[in-house]
Amino acid sequence: MSEHDHPAQPDQLDAAEEAHLRELSASAVTAEAEGDERAIEAALRPRTLDEVVGQARVREQLGLVLEAARGRGRAPDHVLLSGPPGLGKTTLAMIIAAELSAPLRLTSGPAITHAGDLAAILSGLNEDDVLFVDEIHRMSRPAEEMLYLAMEDFRVDVVIGKGPGATAIPLEIPPFTLVGATTRAGLLPGPLRDRFGFTAHLEFYEPTELELIVRRSAGLLGVRITDDGAAEIAGRSRGTPRIANRLLRRVRDFAQVRADGVVTLDVAHATLDLYEVDVLGLDRLDRAVLDALCRRFGGGPVGAATLAVAVGEERETVEEVAEPFLVRTGFLARTPRGRVATPAAWAHLGLAAPRSEPGGTLFEA
Ligand SMILES: Nc1ncnc2c1ncn2[C@@H]1O[C@H](COP(=O)(O)OP(=O)(O)OP(=O)(O)O)[C@@H](O)[C@H]1O
Ligand SMILES: [Mg+2]
Repeated sequence: MSEHDHPAQPDQLDAAEEAHLRELSASAVTAEAEGDERAIEAALRPRTLDEVVGQARVREQLGLVLEAARGRGRAPDHVLLSGPPGLGKTTLAMIIAAELSAPLRLTSGPAITHAGDLAAILSGLNEDDVLFVDEIHRMSRPAEEMLYLAMEDFRVDVVIGKGPGATAIPLEIPPFTLVGATTRAGLLPGPLRDRFGFTAHLEFYEPTELELIVRRSAGLLGVRITDDGAAEIAGRSRGTPRIANRLLRRVRDFAQVRADGVVTLDVAHATLDLYEVDVLGLDRLDRAVLDALCRRFGGGPVGAATLAVAVGEERETVEEVAEPFLVRTGFLARTPRGRVATPAAWAHLGLAAPRSEPGGTLFEA
C-alpha cells in the first residue's frame, strides 16, 4: 500500500478535546465487541447468505448444506463456525436459522455451567429448532458430554438424585440443529468437534471486501461516503468487518461534527489519524511495541516480559492484544529466544534495518 500525504485536517481540535477522544479510542481496532456495540451491530448484520460479503467458500459450502436439508425436509447437520472475533460467526448463525425458516435459540458456553442448564435448554427445543451456542469452547465438561449424546442420538440422560441412589432417566429430544461458534477451535475436545457435520472456518477479509461492507453499512446508516473514503477505512480495518463498521461510525461522527457530513478520503484520514489507527490498522500499542523492539532492543530477540515493561503494559496485553496482529502482518516473529522485528517492521517505522542479523543472548525468551 502506498503512503498518502496526509492532508490538513478539516478542523483543528483543541488539545483537551483531542485527549478525551483519544482516551475513548484506546481500542478503536480491537476485534472484540465493546460496550453496547452488539446492539448497534444487529442493524448492520446481513440477513441472508446472498447479502454476506466475502467468505465465498464458506458461503458456497453452507449454501449447499442448507439447500440439501431443505430439499429433504430434514434438519441439516450440526454446524461449527470457527474464526477470530468480528468476522461474522454470530451473523452466520442467524442466517442459518433464517434460511431454514427455523426459530433460533441462543445461549453461550459460559452460561452453561452445569449439565442441568443444558438439559433444560435441550428439553425445551421443538423439532427443527436451531440452537446457537456461542463460545462453545467455554462450556463445562459434564455439559459437553451431555451435548455429545444429544447431537448424535437426540437424547439426554437426566440424572435424578445423588450418590449410589442416583438414576439416569433417558429423555428424547426432537431433532434440532446445533450451531456452535468458537474463536478457539483448538480448545474443543475432539469428540465434540467430530460431531459437527460441517465446520466453517472464517478467514480475514480482503480490503476490497471490507470496502463493500463499509459502503453497505454506510447505506444502512444513511451516511454519504465516497469510494476513496470507504477504501481508506477498509484498508485500516485489520481484515475484520466489526472493526470496519466501528471505524466507519467514528469517521461518520467526525464528518458530521467537523465537516459537511460526507465521508471523504480527507475526513477518513483526519479521523483515523486522530484515533491513532495507522494506514495498516496498527494502533498506538502496536506501534509502541514495534518501536521498543526496534529502537530499544535493536530488533530483538527480546523476551515478552521485557518488551511489556518497555511499553508499560502487562505482559498479557502485549502478548494477546498487540502481538497476534503484528505477527499476522509479518512485523514480528515469536522465536524460542524471544521477539524479533522483521525487515518490514523497520520499514513501517521508517527506520533503516540493521545490516547484520540482530543477535546476542542478552535477553531470555
Ligand atoms: N460477511 C459480512 N458481511 C457484512 N457484514 C459483516 C460480515 N461479517 C460480519 N459482519 C458485520 O460485523 C459485525 C460483527 O459480526 P459478528 O457479530 O457476526 O462476529 P462474530 O464472529 O460473531 O464475533 P465474536 O467472535 O466477537 O462473537 C456485525 O455487525 C456484522 O454486521
Ligand atoms: Mg459472535
